[in-house]
Amino acid sequence: MEVIQILQKISSITKEPFGQFESWFNEARNTDGIIEANAMCIATASKSGVPSARIVLLKGFSKEGFTFYTNYNSRKGKELLENPKASLCFYWEPLKKSIRIDGDVKKIPEKESEEYFATRPRNSQIAAVVGCNSSKIIPNRDHLNESLSKVNKELEGNSVPKPKDWGGFIVIPNQIEFWQGQTDRTHDRIVFRRKEENEVLDPTLTKEGKDGWLIERFAP
Ligand SMILES: Cc1cc2nc3c(=O)[nH]c(=O)nc-3n(C[C@H](O)[C@H](O)[C@H](O)COP(=O)(O)O)c2cc1C
Repeated sequence: MEVIQILQKISSITKEPFGQFESWFNEARNTDGIIEANAMCIATASKSGVPSARIVLLKGFSKEGFTFYTNYNSRKGKELLENPKASLCFYWEPLKKSIRIDGDVKKIPEKESEEYFATRPRNSQIAAVVGCNSSKIIPNRDHLNESLSKVNKELEGNSVPKPKDWGGFIVIPNQIEFWQGQTDRTHDRIVFRRKEENEVLDPTLTKEGKDGWLIERFAP
């Protein structure tokens, strides 16, 4: 019953996806048993279409898009630079809720990455300097430990400068799906998407939302 009420809210109150995202994300953050509500899978693809996926942490969102940080030379970084499209996916098991966000990707301004880097714990800053998340092949664990102590020593007493290859990406959505699991497998899927050029809408299937978003229900 509770689930049905949530979905009525999607179609009758929240006519654009960002408010709906905020509502579900806050619910996830405040739910016992969800430790990292901002952990999301991000799928990218190479220029030739070979896919890859991994977990990153969402660090910000607004009506402009969804931001995370990484090493621009990592596999995901390189793929996003050559094929700037991504799909994000959250799943919050205790709530049986999932959100999928598909969109175009761009680097955020360098200044914003610098400002965010400055707020990170020193250990995370040092890890970024030694190239953690850069997907480079390293000989062994000792090599990593030695690099960390070397950089720690070199920067002792000083602030840690952001490595030039480290920074944020923003995913600018063209489709966001809200999935609510149901016990009998008749899951609910509400999809917000952008209208295609010259598209003729069938009002029995597609509702017009706010800010140019269309709203549809998909079969489970
Ligand atoms: C919970 C969790 C959070 C993570 N957060 C990030 C992150 O915010 N940024 C990042 O670059 N890697 C993060 N990682 C590591 C990535 O999953 C991945 O191993 C790394 O970035 C290299 O990915 P790539 O070789 O596909 O580019 C996280 C991993 C886990 C399990």
